[in-house]
Amino acid sequence: MRVGAPEAALEGSLVRLRSHEASDYGALNELFSDPEVMEGIGFAMPQSSQGYREFVESTRGKEDRVLFVIERLEDRQAMGGCGLDGIEARNRAAVLGIWIGKPYWHRGYGTDAMRTLCRFAFRHMNLQRIELNVFSVNPRALRVYERIGFKVEGTRRHSHFVGGGYVDSFVMGLLSEELTDEDLPRG
Ligand SMILES: CC(C)(COP(=O)(O)OP(=O)(O)OC[C@H]1O[C@@H](n2cnc3c(N)ncnc32)[C@H](O)[C@@H]1OP(=O)(O)O)[C@@H](O)C(=O)NCCC(=O)NCCS
Repeated sequence: MRVGAPEAALEGSLVRLRSHEASDYGALNELFSDPEVMEGIGFAMPQSSQGYREFVESTRGKEDRVLFVIERLEDRQAMGGCGLDGIEARNRAAVLGIWIGKPYWHRGYGTDAMRTLCRFAFRHMNLQRIELNVFSVNPRALRVYERIGFKVEGTRRHSHFVGGGYVDSFVMGLLSEELTDEDLPRG
């Protein structure tokens, strides 16, 4: 199987994943600070764009973490972020996170960004397992994850205090051979 150049591997059919530039922090922090976006991720409070920048910069050079800006292909609009954390060389596994700014929801960008990130992780980082945690009260995210092949592996009862009450969260996992990638073959 050809894997193609890494830049092409970071491109889906609607979005491209790229690294952060200094000009991203203000706009991305504004999108991230939406209460519904933060609720999905489990953040209780907004932060300054300086805080956002410091977080991104603190991950530079770390071998167990990669972070990307999600950019719309058609006009290079930065719409959100995604990444892998806790990358384990021995187990070839990582934990995935994603968010998209609310004005861009429901247009397929989240699904395309997930597929692109998982494909990159399996083909170019040589991972074999991706894990994530999702609140049981987040149907949008659940829909996206299940559509690309993630399976619920367990329930963490009352794991988080969100929106004034305790919610369960699901641990979901995806093995490399399970990714349903409608864009294949590429590269
Ligand atoms: C989760 C998230 C990334 C999805 O991004 P998106 O760009 O809206 O995703 P898509 O447009 O690709 O798909 C959304 C799907 O959810 C479905 N959906 C939307 N609202 C829904 C609801 N209330 N109940 C069930 N499904 C719903 C949509 O119909 C769509 O599925 P379809 O294409 O089969 O119709 C985005 O909503 C987000 O960033 N949320 C806030 C942060 C967050 O929750 N991150 C995930 C943490 S685990």
